[in-house]
Amino acid sequence: MSDVNPEKLLPGHTPEPRHTLSGKLKNLYVWRAPDGVLMLREVLQDKDQTREVIEFNCSQWGYEVDQMAPRTTEERVQFGKDAFQKQLRVLEPALLEDGSVVFPYLENSETMTLFLRKASLEEATPRIQELFMDLANAHSQGIVYGDRWPDNILIDADKGVVHIDFDLKLGEFGKELEVAQLMLYTLALGVGENDTSSSRYEDLVHDLMARSPIKYDKVKVAHFLFTKIKMAPHYNHLQSIAERVVGRLGWSVASV
Ligand SMILES: Nc1ncnc2c1ncn2[C@@H]1O[C@H](COP(=O)(O)OP(=O)(O)OP(=O)(O)O)[C@@H](O)[C@H]1O
Ligand SMILES: [Mg+2]
Repeated sequence: MSDVNPEKLLPGHTPEPRHTLSGKLKNLYVWRAPDGVLMLREVLQDKDQTREVIEFNCSQWGYEVDQMAPRTTEERVQFGKDAFQKQLRVLEPALLEDGSVVFPYLENSETMTLFLRKASLEEATPRIQELFMDLANAHSQGIVYGDRWPDNILIDADKGVVHIDFDLKLGEFGKELEVAQLMLYTLALGVGENDTSSSRYEDLVHDLMARSPIKYDKVKVAHFLFTKIKMAPHYNHLQSIAERVVGRLGWSVASV
């Protein structure tokens, strides 16, 4: 439960007893507004684990540590507002007096990790299309979300794909890194328990990348894909799947 009286920050709001979510960097509290709408209040944790998170992420992805940095609260709010205004798939944030940030809370959502693991190809296809189209749309407008792993993406019953968590910003090759992340995680989440030789999202990921309006540095994207696979032994089976997709796209890792 939040240690702050919501009356002072958001008059009329009441804490929801059933929720206090916590991530690695934040505590999250759910409040109910007078009109019944649920809000999520984010408070940065006292213990700053940002450095550890950055080092872990960069080592996984072969990304330069000095190219990944935390966004300040003000930057996160401004970033969220800009992205919302550009009609990207994000929630509109608001900054409270105590420096915490509130978002609409999506009650009927689940993370992309949970959704894609169990979805049929038919259910997953429109969501994966939204994901890749939104990413191209964001990148074409200069927006780089950062840290795009599938627990930072929600699938909401009404809104479809929604990006959350813009705590980290990327520098050089940021666009290529997050394209690679979304390609790889999508492929990984489409691998069945009994068949690790293919992913049910292989053709879809290939088609979406082949039709992407953005001309990414394809060699760099391929490099990020294979760096990740080599770093994580439990993803070993993905190597041949990703190789197939990258090969069909005509990309290579040769000159990196
Ligand atoms: N607006 C929201 N509506 C519903 N659920 C949410 C919302 N925002 C966050 N969550 C849930 O809380 C979890 C953690 O949120 P978030 O990723 O912002 O925190 P975090 O501290 O960065 O976590 P991590 O470091 O583990 O990524 C999400 O994976 C999601 O399940
Ligand atoms: Mg997160």
